[in-house]
Amino acid sequence: MNTIQKITADKYDYMDLLLIADPSEKAIAKYLGDSDLFVMFEADKPVCVAVVKKVSDNICEIKNIAVTKMRRGYGSEMIDYICDYYKNNYEFMEVGTADTSIGNIRFYERNGFAVTHQIDNFFVDNYDEPIYENGVQCRHMVMLQRSLDE
Ligand SMILES: CC(C)(COP(=O)(O)OP(=O)(O)OC[C@H]1O[C@@H](n2cnc3c(N)ncnc32)[C@H](O)[C@@H]1OP(=O)(O)O)[C@@H](O)C(=O)NCCC(=O)NCCS
Repeated sequence: MNTIQKITADKYDYMDLLLIADPSEKAIAKYLGDSDLFVMFEADKPVCVAVVKKVSDNICEIKNIAVTKMRRGYGSEMIDYICDYYKNNYEFMEVGTADTSIGNIRFYERNGFAVTHQIDNFFVDNYDEPIYENGVQCRHMVMLQRSLDE
């Protein structure tokens, strides 16, 4: 059975997994310190990570979520866990993903998120190198929200 733990010490131990979702260690270092890190373990092996940061009094944001083995339900299980974890502290959980990440957008929509807006040129303005996904350059960030009300 999988277990999920909130990690407070040695967060950089999970950098390999965090780099699956965010290719820049520099970008990860900017948010990891003042965010919460959750890790799912299968036996003793980390199989999913999620990083959540406060945005405002009523919104928290998933800054990073990744699994080692895709489409086995681990990502959805993590989403449910963190939404339940924060439901008494915030009204909404927010997440941003590239406009080219059709699979990710579908994943979030299947997990109760809906698109709210787009941040134009986010990936062009915030990363040193261009990022490509399936040969297409990631330019814009699509923002989605899920209500934490049950
Ligand atoms: C996005 C991610 C966290 C989802 O976790 P997961 O454990 O694979 O997802 P789940 O198994 O819980 O849910 C799968 C559902 O989400 C959707 N989905 C997830 N990945 C998809 C993909 N690549 N293409 C299409 N749909 C996808 C599908 O609807 C899928 O259901 P199905 O398998 O029955 O068709 C995982 O794929 C991942 O680590 N991706 C790489 C890192 C990343 O891009 N993170 C997000 C940054 S914004």
